[in-house]
Amino acid sequence: MKEMLEKIRASALECLQNDDADLEAIRIRFLGKKGELTAVLRGMGALSAEERPIVGQLANEIRADIEKAIAEKSAVAAEKKLQAKLKAEKIDVTMPADSTVGHIHPLTLVQRELEDIFLGMGFSIVEGPEVELDYYNFQALNIPENHPARDTQDTFYITENILLRSQTSPVQARTMEVQKPPIRIISPGRVYRSDAVDATHSPLFHQLEGLVIDKGITMGDLKGVLEIFAKETFGEETRIRFRPHHFPFTEPSAEVDVSCFACGGKGCRICKGEGWIEILGAGMVHPNVLRNCGIDPEVYSGFAFGFGIERIAMLKYHIDDMRLLYENDVRFLNQF
Ligand code: DAH
Repeated sequence: MKEMLEKIRASALECLQNDDADLEAIRIRFLGKKGELTAVLRGMGALSAEERPIVGQLANEIRADIEKAIAEKSAVAAEKKLQAKLKAEKIDVTMPADSTVGHIHPLTLVQRELEDIFLGMGFSIVEGPEVELDYYNFQALNIPENHPARDTQDTFYITENILLRSQTSPVQARTMEVQKPPIRIISPGRVYRSDAVDATHSPLFHQLEGLVIDKGITMGDLKGVLEIFAKETFGEETRIRFRPHHFPFTEPSAEVDVSCFACGGKGCRICKGEGWIEILGAGMVHPNVLRNCGIDPEVYSGFAFGFGIERIAMLKYHIDDMRLLYENDVRFLNQF
């Protein structure tokens, strides 16, 4: 009987050697209710009382061996199947997707171009908070409480003293407070005003502020910087023109026009027959502003300027409605 059991073990293990072995069939054939091992065990009644436990133990060992071999084989087969599946279903994630490829928004595009122009002239970029103190947005800039200049820059108030900045000019004061001259910075960013939305207004828009402070800075320096900016933005032929104006934080102040890039100055639909297009405000930093920020106006002077980025983008790309820049209609955005 022992030999029969050993034969069953050998024959089962041999069947399992085969790579394509049907594991379930092997289990049934050797270990099943009508299997070979069971059949041998049925004959155990004929054995003597001494032999029975020895043969029983051997039979159990063999059963365990066969079960273990089947389990191992089954694990190997499962792993093999998994690997084959992974190989078959492999996807190349680097393959270009069959969908729209994103790109930079026209406003960001223009902002980056503007930044590059000023970086090229030695300016560095600083950022300021959009939630701003009344002090920096107005008072430090020589606009005291109840000053009429506040009317044109009505904004959104969080408390009496905290507001959404109506201009990027507060970054001037913040910079001068912490940085000693020479100062040469630009500061692009979002600004807010309580304006109704139309083709040329939005309660949220973007400005770019510039500030230069050093010994001996003159209006000639301002003109030179703005001329380079205008030529690089609108073309080499572009000329600029200063018109006297008033801003509380500069003295003297000017509004600056560029010659119309569409007609060259003759007058057309784009410049409304003027030949010139207004693009920014500028001037020499007011002595009060320098003093408010701890800079001695007897020693230092400087200029500042500020303009709307939307306006530049609209002029550059012939966009006639500001809302297009915010609506994110892909038919519009795909043109850039
Ligand atoms: N902050 C002004 C505005 O929003 C623009 C401006 C004008 C900025 C003159 C300046 C400046 O720095 O010198 O209308």
